[in-house]
Amino acid sequence: MAATDAHLWAVDANEAFHLSLVRAAADKASLTTREHYEGFNPNFTYPLFGEDEKIYGYRNLRIDLKFASGSLAQYLNISYSDKLPVSSALDDIEGTVSKFIPPGYYTDEAAFLACVEEDALSFTPPGTRIHAYSRPLKTSNSKGKEKVVQENEETVDFEIYHCTWDTPGFKELHRRMQLYILLYIEGGSYIKEEEDVWQFTVLYEKRKRRSDPSISTYHFVGYSTLYPFYCFPEKVRLRLSQFVIAPPYQQEGHGSALYSAIYRYVRNSPDIAELTVEDPVEAFEDLRDRNDLKMLLSESAFMHEALGEDWEAEVESAKRPATPPKSKGHRYHPYANANGHSD
Ligand code: ACO
Repeated sequence: MAATDAHLWAVDANEAFHLSLVRAAADKASLTTREHYEGFNPNFTYPLFGEDEKIYGYRNLRIDLKFASGSLAQYLNISYSDKLPVSSALDDIEGTVSKFIPPGYYTDEAAFLACVEEDALSFTPPGTRIHAYSRPLKTSNSKGKEKVVQENEETVDFEIYHCTWDTPGFKELHRRMQLYILLYIEGGSYIKEEEDVWQFTVLYEKRKRRSDPSISTYHFVGYSTLYPFYCFPEKVRLRLSQFVIAPPYQQEGHGSALYSAIYRYVRNSPDIAELTVEDPVEAFEDLRDRNDLKMLLSESAFMHEALGEDWEAEVESAKRPATPPKSKGHRYHPYANANGHSD
């Protein structure tokens, strides 16, 4: 096989790319076996490596982009077992990735880990806290078996912060988090810092350090960007533009919590007339429908309008399981017709 047969040296970029949200050693030690935040893959790499999402010229390629879990300081490492001798046939991986992350990322792992340790003690979320909630600690593994039970910790706290470009420290933080938009939202692109009206909501996990519960550490979970448009005569229409939850936290209700917090924020802001969503993907439409429905069901004015005065009784009866007809010796069949026979 000719060493220059570049197609034989093509690697799937989504598989080669590994992301991590790295915690300080003391904080890692307090995690349960189900809490893995390291080594997850992107959904899309075409914005970086082109439509075919392939990287050419390497064998056993691994790209590690690690983020300190709070400040999102980055460490980039590229390793492979072999590469083509002809440099013109090689993709310039660092040159490509570095176009999408801010300068100053670490390439020395020891220096990065020292930053992670420092981060755990010094990082606090920028912005104004708009919502907080708790979740039971994940204590079982994927087969549902109980593995490690934390001492003194049964729930985990989550907090949501609202920011603008003017929030001290946020612009720099955003430059480090925005890669998640390219890697997880199809068609996602970076927003312009020159557009100064953007607003943001960022969700963090908040943990108490086991060795010193007086120290709280914050870990990035996901975020959303919001753009206000003028709405006649004197209000704004807020458009939810980008929305991402980091993969280790997906499918646990955090997307719903972030969306609901944005919805409540909008309802509580007298200058905002409505909340719209830009090009939602199907999964986000589902999330929005489920949460909008929940909110409507909890609004007595809406329920009264929709179902009339007896709405509470109607909701209660809808919650009750259908009562099987009294049996006269026949077994109840859910699809039985009036004669007791199923079609
Ligand atoms: N345990 C298990 N499952 C749960 C729990 C729980 N505690 N809570 C909710 N779920 C289920 C929900 O029922 C739902 O199930 P379904 O998919 O069968 O309907 C599912 O988990 C997802 O709901 P959430 O957990 O609330 O949502 P999640 O945190 O996974 O976020 C999102 C969804 C935003 C789409 C996320 O997967 C993501 O970031 N994807 C990649 C980026 C993306 O597509 N973003 C949206 C683009 S559109 C836009 O930006 C406007």
